[in-house]
Amino acid sequence: MNFSIVSIFPDMLKNFIAYGLIDKAIEKKLVNIDVYDLRNFTTNKHKKVDDKPFGGGSGMVMKPEPFFNAVNHIQKKMKGKVILFSAYAELLTQKKVKELSDEDHLILLCGRYEGVDQRVIDEIVDEEISIGEYVLMGGEVAAEVILESVSRMIYGVVGNPESVKTDSFFYDNQFAFPQYTQPRDYKDLKVPEVLLSGNHRDIIEWRKRNIKRRKT
Ligand SMILES: C[S@@+](CC[C@H](N)C(=O)[O-])C[C@H]1O[C@@H](n2cnc3c(N)ncnc32)[C@H](O)[C@@H]1O
Repeated sequence: MNFSIVSIFPDMLKNFIAYGLIDKAIEKKLVNIDVYDLRNFTTNKHKKVDDKPFGGGSGMVMKPEPFFNAVNHIQKKMKGKVILFSAYAELLTQKKVKELSDEDHLILLCGRYEGVDQRVIDEIVDEEISIGEYVLMGGEVAAEVILESVSRMIYGVVGNPESVKTDSFFYDNQFAFPQYTQPRDYKDLKVPEVLLSGNHRDIIEWRKRNIKRRKT
């Protein structure tokens, strides 16, 4: 699976992908991640990517040309689905994550400032995604969320594929259960007896009874 990420802070992402299972997935050639500096696609001397909003208002808006140029450049190499991160957009869910993991190539556009010129959204973006009902400084963290959640769905990225299937949300209404490890007794806080019993049927029942749910 291929990811192309466009950002004014490429180093944030390059640093992020140098760790953990993402780094290993790159090494194993299960995922390929290219990070592009949006400023390299500007057409002005000062590599300016933002300007004042027409009609007035606070803050700056990201100019259309660099995004058009960047996406054009990336699509020429390999066609892909273009996603822009926007706070107001459809919320990311595990169902959406699974859907995205079926794509061959995701092109992730990270906004900053007050957001992106509407013409980018109207012309070159296939889908807008929000990672939650709050406002971040930029789309980079959202891109990292996509990288982690979507890569996890790719066979071989997580060492034991079974562990992915028991994760929260993998199936509808599936949630994680409480986990314990050594020591059996920590400051008189004991691991539930049933988990030490070796009785798999009882353990499964106990886990079903104790699944973690969001308190709404
Ligand atoms: C400061 S925010 C802009 C917020 C925008 N003025 C609004 O009211 O929705 C700058 C950029 O951060 C990213 N961003 C902020 N919150 C996000 C969220 N919850 N999910 C995904 N991306 C987000 C988007 O790319 C956005 O263009």
